[in-house]
Amino acid sequence: MAFQDLPEFVAHLEKHGQLHRVATPVSRDLEISEITDRVSKGPAARNRALLFERVEGADMPVLINAFGSAQRMAWALGVEDLNGLGDRVAELLDLKLPGTLFDKLKKLGTLFDLAKAGPKSVRSAPCQEVVETERASLASLPILTCWPGDAGRYITLPCVFTRDPATGARNVGMYRLQVYDDRTLGMHWQTHKGSAEHEREAQRLHVPRMEVAIALGGDPATVYAASAPLPPGIDEIVFAGWLRGRGVEMVPCKTIDMEVPAHAEIVLEGYVDPRERRVEGPFGDHTGYYSLAREYPVFHLTAITRKRRPLYPTIIVGRPPQEDYWLGKATERLFLPIIKLMLPEVVDMNMPAEGIFHNLVIVSIKKRYPGHARKVMTALWGMGLMMLAKTIVVVSEHVNVHDLSEVAWRATGNIDPKRDIMLIEGPMDDLDHAALRHRFGGKMGIDATEKGPLDEVAQPWPDEIVMTDEMRALVSRRWKDYGF
Ligand SMILES: Cc1cc2nc3c(=O)[nH]c(=O)nc-3n(C[C@H](O)[C@H](O)[C@H](O)COP(=O)(O)O)c2cc1C
Repeated sequence: MAFQDLPEFVAHLEKHGQLHRVATPVSRDLEISEITDRVSKGPAARNRALLFERVEGADMPVLINAFGSAQRMAWALGVEDLNGLGDRVAELLDLKLPGTLFDKLKKLGTLFDLAKAGPKSVRSAPCQEVVETERASLASLPILTCWPGDAGRYITLPCVFTRDPATGARNVGMYRLQVYDDRTLGMHWQTHKGSAEHEREAQRLHVPRMEVAIALGGDPATVYAASAPLPPGIDEIVFAGWLRGRGVEMVPCKTIDMEVPAHAEIVLEGYVDPRERRVEGPFGDHTGYYSLAREYPVFHLTAITRKRRPLYPTIIVGRPPQEDYWLGKATERLFLPIIKLMLPEVVDMNMPAEGIFHNLVIVSIKKRYPGHARKVMTALWGMGLMMLAKTIVVVSEHVNVHDLSEVAWRATGNIDPKRDIMLIEGPMDDLDHAALRHRFGGKMGIDATEKGPLDEVAQPWPDEIVMTDEMRALVSRRWKDYGF
């Protein structure tokens, strides 16, 4: 099922008991955060999307936690179960692509397009029912103060549109924005991200103004696609169209040469001067700590366009688990088949909430030769944003990577730290507060596979304790007799 926009998704959530409306007035400063944090971390039955209908000082409702469960995330992407996503990608890769591995990867972008996923250009759009240029101001938006130590209010769920100034290729990324004043925002695209590369190109070509559009809302698949770590050759909007089975309608902006989703709730048009920098942060981040104040680019507003009655979509991040975990889970499931295409020995992968995506990646493999676990670690560190993974734990193929208790048991018992830990140095996430230095630091690979003759271990590897099938069957049959 493809949703046209966020209100349609909200209606779907409400129909299925997954929306909670809050009618009492609330403050956008910290109060929405505290409520949402309790809902995200509380009992599963209480974890619903939240629609705050009366937010002090604003005339539009605030939507939060819309993606905050496996079920809601799956619905957002048009499936019932997140695992179904991986199956769709696997099908696409297996059935339709002839040629070698590299041919397949190169063609992936075209393939999404062929699946009738290409964007559709329209001339008029709901996101332009109201157009403010002369007096455009962010003041009317219910932008949250998320945490007490934040440097200010932050737009946290934006789809940021830029173009490569040399090739014109589009990038859409989800980069938070700090409000400096009613027309100026801090643009937090980190150094490894697509739009940061566009900005470096703009610097190289001495482009004085790099045009940027920021869409708030749109159909849920497009919002998700902004957070997906797609390689530069694959257009997020085509990818979103493929996810939802229908091309995304795009409309030209009013003051800049950029297209935005026609069904967005609100669009901010403007530009970044590639020479300008300003201190951004601190911000209570998805690491569970405040990310440090650092210099980032600055966004200048030239227009706001919006629906007549928009809703304002947002998210909070903080100590996990939070809503962003589910956006990351969707990425993990979608990208697993692509990783498997390049590393067929990979069986499954888990990036647990506690590892905030890049701190901990657990991967199970079919081990076939000495050093195989190390080959998988180094290959993963060479793949796109996986370069930022701090710890990779490799386990044997039969281990359930989603059972953290099992992984902890095996990963501590099956290693000799001197033999099985590989330490290297490489690029680190901008937000890693423990790294050797900013954006660069140590990484650890743990080979927690079972060791056998391949590994030339000094002692024979013991058998795991497992009861006989006969005794298990007998006890199951007689279970009631024991009086439990
Ligand atoms: C809620 C949320 C907030 C995010 N905030 C940022 C951010 O402020 N800066 C950043 O570089 N990446 C941020 N990310 C991660 C990027 O969206 C992600 O790496 C994405 O792949 C970037 O797109 P790109 O690869 O086209 O640059 C955020 C992700 C989520 C889910």
